[in-house]
This record gives sequence, C-alpha cells and structure tokens, in this order.
Amino acid sequence: MSMATGKVESIVTNAASISPATDRALKYHTEETPYTLPTGTDESEWARLNAQHYGIKSYWGSNSAGANWPKSPKKILELGLGTGVWALEVAAQFPGSEVIGVDIIEPNLETKPANFSFHRLNVVTDPWPFESGSFDIVHCRFLAMHLPNFRDLVKKAIDATAPNGILMFEDPALVMRSVDKAVPSPVALFFAIYQGHSEANGVNCRTGPEFLPIIRDSKQFSEIHETIVPAPMGDWTEDEKLNSIGLGLQVGLIEGARFQNPRLYRFGMTKEIVEGMCQELLKKENHLCYDMYFVWARKRKTNL
Ligand SMILES: C[S@@+](CC[C@H](N)C(=O)[O-])C[C@H]1O[C@@H](n2cnc3c(N)ncnc32)[C@H](O)[C@@H]1O
Repeated sequence: MSMATGKVESIVTNAASISPATDRALKYHTEETPYTLPTGTDESEWARLNAQHYGIKSYWGSNSAGANWPKSPKKILELGLGTGVWALEVAAQFPGSEVIGVDIIEPNLETKPANFSFHRLNVVTDPWPFESGSFDIVHCRFLAMHLPNFRDLVKKAIDATAPNGILMFEDPALVMRSVDKAVPSPVALFFAIYQGHSEANGVNCRTGPEFLPIIRDSKQFSEIHETIVPAPMGDWTEDEKLNSIGLGLQVGLIEGARFQNPRLYRFGMTKEIVEGMCQELLKKENHLCYDMYFVWARKRKTNL
C-alpha cells in the first residue's frame, strides 16, 4: 500500500448510537474522502451494489449499457470497482483482454481471473499510474457522484481512453420525482439533506447530466450517446425492463439510505426521515422515479 492511500483505509464505526437505523459495525472511508456509503467489503453493501448491477444489466441485456464495444478490447479499466462484479463479468467475457479495477478499498474476491488485477488508487488525490490513451474501454459507474471535483475524474478518464476507444459514465441525476403526484415530504427532505451534505463537501451528487457536455467540450470524441432511463422505484410500470432496473435501484437507494455514514446524522438527517423515505419509496402508488444517465463516447482515431 502506498503512503498516499494508506491514510484512507476504512474505519470501523458502530453507527447505532447516532443512527438507530443501523445497529451493527460498519466500515466507512475516513473523513479524508467524502464518500458516505459503507465500503464494498461490507456484506450488506456488497448485496446492495450487486442488486443495482443486476438491475442495470437486466435493463440493457448486457454489461455494455448500450455502448458499441470493440470486438476484442486489449485493455479495460473500471474506475471505482466496488464489489468487482462488472469487471469480473467483463474479464470473463473477454478472456484475451487485460482488465484493471481501481478503488480505495480492495474487494474480497473469492477468485480472481488471470486477466484481472486490482490497483489501490484514490482517483482524486493519487497520481494515476496509467499511460495516456491506453484503455480500449473505460467504465465508471456510481463514482463521480460521490467525488469532489468530479470534472477532474472525467478529464483523467478521457486521457486514459485509447484512440478509437470507448468511454462510459453511468450516474443518476438523483432528483426524485413522481409522474403524477407531489413528492412525499420525507423523500424531499432526505434528498435536500443529502444534497446539502454533498455540496458542503464539494460534491455534486447530480452528475448524470454533466457528462455529455464535458465529453463533448473536450473535442476528442467522434460520437457521444446519452440515454436517460426513468428508473421507477419498484415495479409499478407496465414496462418489464424499466421495472427490472427500477427494482435494483430501489434496493440501492433504500439500503444506501439506511447505512449512510453517521456524518450525515450530524448534518440534520434523522432515523425518522430515512425510514419515512424508505416507506414512501416502497409504495407503488407514489409512482416515484429518478433519471439514470448512461453516457458512452468513442474517442477519435487521432487527435487531428
Ligand atoms: C457506489 S460504489 C460503485 C461501485 C461500482 N462502480 C458499481 O457500480 O457497483 C463507489 C465505489 O467507489 C469507491 N470510491 C469512492 N471514492 C473513491 C476514490 N476517491 N477513489 C477510488 N475509489 C473511490 C468506493 O470505495 C466504492 O467501491
């Protein structure tokens, strides 16, 4: 472990005294990173991230989220590996490729395929150890929305993408809306506090709509695609694919809210607000949804 990343090891916190919603020891990043969710090595966080992953995969029918991938990518980079589920599945899909996953916390992987490796990296503060233009696919999901100065992350990811390579970002706008009703007050309150806490830490938690303009303004891409999926909270729509992504992201939001870092409780969050929101998210008749942004772009063959 390098000196730089050694400072941001996880800490063990018993959140029970602060958030009655959580009654067991949870591991979080330290205050040196604004990341407020438990580490991916926490058992319930593992299940939560995988629920989101399989909801998204089921919507798209693959891990490419609509991107037109090269037939035989040589190198693939996953930023913010989490449980590693996306990277390991992609490593199995392309056994001839080299897949690299980076994160502050190393996931507990039972088996590591020969073509996969983990690099401990704080993408914000550490120098990136990769050559410019070296990855045929760069994938980043649910990370930028947690980081200060996420634009720097996007710029570094652009730099790491190879000529003719594919860059992918997937994040929500994280604004909850109802298609036909007012948003219930605990839901509105939860998001107001979460957003306030994020902004106080220099974090924009609504990164989804920001990717396309940043990528476009770099002038380094020959095509850019943005798909906005209105993910329902639960399976209340008549569209099976929307319901599948919605069920995964509903679990992600409820479990993510219940196990937020106790720091949020020093910022006005209460157990009542969290549980109130969770109960409203579970009511199909509320018709709640949020927009999930899937952006992919192909880098120009040359920098001409
Ligand atoms: C919400 S999870 C998403 C994981 C995965 N991309 C997915 O979609 O399931 C965000 C991940 O980013 C990692 N992370 C947070 N801040 C980071 C940083 N500054 N540098 C590297 N990884 C970071 C967390 O440890 C966590 O594993």
